[in-house]
Amino acid sequence: MGLTRIRSVGRCLADKIVTNDDLAGLMETDDEWIQQRSGIQQRHHISENTGPADLGAVAARQALDRAGLEPGDIDCILFGTLSPDYDMPASACVLQDRLGIPDVPAMDVRNQCTGFLYGLTVADAFIQAGRYERVLLVGGEVHSTGLDFTTRGRQVAVLFGDGAGAAVIERGDDDERGILSTHLHSDGKFADKLWLEAVSARAPHRLTEEMITSDDPPIFPKMQGRYVFKHAVTRSAEAIREAVAAGGYSVSDIDLLVPHQANLRINQAVAMALEFPEEKVVNNIQKLGNTTAATIPIALYDALEDGRLNEGDLVCLVAFGAGFTWASVLLRW
Ligand code: UT7
Repeated sequence: MGLTRIRSVGRCLADKIVTNDDLAGLMETDDEWIQQRSGIQQRHHISENTGPADLGAVAARQALDRAGLEPGDIDCILFGTLSPDYDMPASACVLQDRLGIPDVPAMDVRNQCTGFLYGLTVADAFIQAGRYERVLLVGGEVHSTGLDFTTRGRQVAVLFGDGAGAAVIERGDDDERGILSTHLHSDGKFADKLWLEAVSARAPHRLTEEMITSDDPPIFPKMQGRYVFKHAVTRSAEAIREAVAAGGYSVSDIDLLVPHQANLRINQAVAMALEFPEEKVVNNIQKLGNTTAATIPIALYDALEDGRLNEGDLVCLVAFGAGFTWASVLLRW
């Protein structure tokens, strides 16, 4: 009865690189502001008619290849996204079709920036309960089609990128290597601090002309940036402490911290609050922006490619986002 392990990961970046200077051609912003406030230098956007399930399928095939598996070896699909291909059906179902996997359960995990860690927790629970043997967990987002690329939307639009990351998750044969603990949190009273109000089931016909033409259209994401920033730092640090304490470890035992990529300054502030060395923190937001549910699997992929993530490492994953929701996972790689 081994622990649940991430057997392999894959990633897919959208095909178009968009620099800060490119955005400065669309709105009043500049490279210096974006880099100083967020650390972001560029992000990827899709070209056209590509959904998160398309990006997810590429990432999933890569993860399967790396594990020497076929799509048919998967017996459950989970898809973390805040930008699903359609309101219905789930992006997990669209992905299932793209991969040609017949009759297995497929469901979306709509937990925004913490979607991958919520999904990982569900996968771990399914596997440890003996319900499924091998779960494909994908985080995939296409933000660029839903952002306001005018000066009105600049606070949010410059931060986000499109991409997907995938993980093949199964039970290992080791009781010490794999997922050691998972910790999920949510507090819905902060819902309007970071939200996308429309398209909404509360509105007649879901989308009204006024929603599109108003001066402050609810069809674009809204964020109280500083408020979210402060909570992100506090809650992420708390969740990391919670994860190491649950395993009888201290923060200094962590070999690699893989945080959500919302803002490089958030991750630096978390490291400082924990007196944790920044060189042990994986950050790739500089090149990718915030890809929400895709950030952590992409960061794991990048850390493996760079040789920073190695067998036996004690790894802490942490994320914070809309809801507010926040989560951490401690694992031995
Ligand atoms: O993944 C989900 C979780 N998300 C987060 O954790 C994000 C958390 N928040 C943040 O990362 C930061 O709050 C931001 C990067 C979004 C913004 O940085 P900030 O230092 O909090 O700036 P601010 O929103 O307080 O804005 C400062 C100024 C404002 O101008 P005034 O009112 O001081 O004249 C903004 O209008 O910067 C202006 N501004 C911009 N200027 C140039 C806002 N966005 C931009 C922009 N370019 N893109």
